[in-house]
Amino acid sequence: MSELVLGVLVSGSGTNLQALLDAVKAGRLSAKIGVVVSNVATAKGLDRARAAGVPAVVVDHKAFADRAAFDAAVVEVLRAHGATCVVLAGFMRLVTPVLLDAFPHRVVNIHPALLPAFPGVHGPAQALAYGVRVAGCTVHLVDAGMDTGPILAQATVPVLDDDDEASLAARILEKEHELLPQVVQWIAEGRVEVAPGGEGKRPRVRVRIERR
Ligand code: GAR
Repeated sequence: MSELVLGVLVSGSGTNLQALLDAVKAGRLSAKIGVVVSNVATAKGLDRARAAGVPAVVVDHKAFADRAAFDAAVVEVLRAHGATCVVLAGFMRLVTPVLLDAFPHRVVNIHPALLPAFPGVHGPAQALAYGVRVAGCTVHLVDAGMDTGPILAQATVPVLDDDDEASLAARILEKEHELLPQVVQWIAEGRVEVAPGGEGKRPRVRVRIERR
C-alpha cells in the first residue's frame, strides 16, 4: 500500500496537528504530513508545522469570492504537496464539494462533542449548558453538512460538577490527541471501508479492527 500523505488544515492553536506530528515521529502513525494549510496567517499550527520541517501554507479565505473558490485554492495546495488524505484539525471553515470531491471519503474531521449532539462551534459549552454527564469527541468523515458525516470513532470523558467550559474542553482535547492519530493510523492501514448507504440512508462505515 502506498504511503498515506496527509494535508492538515488548521485555523488555530494546532494541538491536534501536534498530536499527529508527534505520532509520526514516535512511529505510531505510518503517514507523512505533506503540508499544513491555514486560512489564518497567525495560526499557531503553522509554527508547529514549520518547527517540524513541514511546509506551512496560508490560504486566506478573505481573498476569495466564495467558499468554493477558497476550497479550489486549498485543493491546489494539497495536490501540489501530494496529499492523499485531508485532516481538518481545528479548521473552522465549512468545506464544499470542491474539496470533498477531490478527496472522496478521505476528508476527516475531529469534533469536540459526541456527535450527533452538539455540532458546530463551542461543543463543550453546548454540552455543559445542556447538562450532559458524559461528553467527548468524535472523528468522522466529512460530508457536505456541518459535522454530519459518517462517524469513525468516539471517545468519552466524564462531565464533573464543577466543570466550566475551559476545564471540560481541556479534558476532551486530551482525548482528541489520542483518538485522532489512532483513527488516521487505521486509515493508513487500510482498515476503514465506506459503503454507500442506499436510498436515503447514511453511508455505512466499517473499521476493521479487533475491538476489546
Ligand atoms: C479542537 O477541540 C477541535 O476538536 C475543535 O477545535 C479545537 C482545535 O484545537 N474543532 C471544532 O470545534 C470543529 N467544529 P487545536 O487547534 O488545538 O487542535
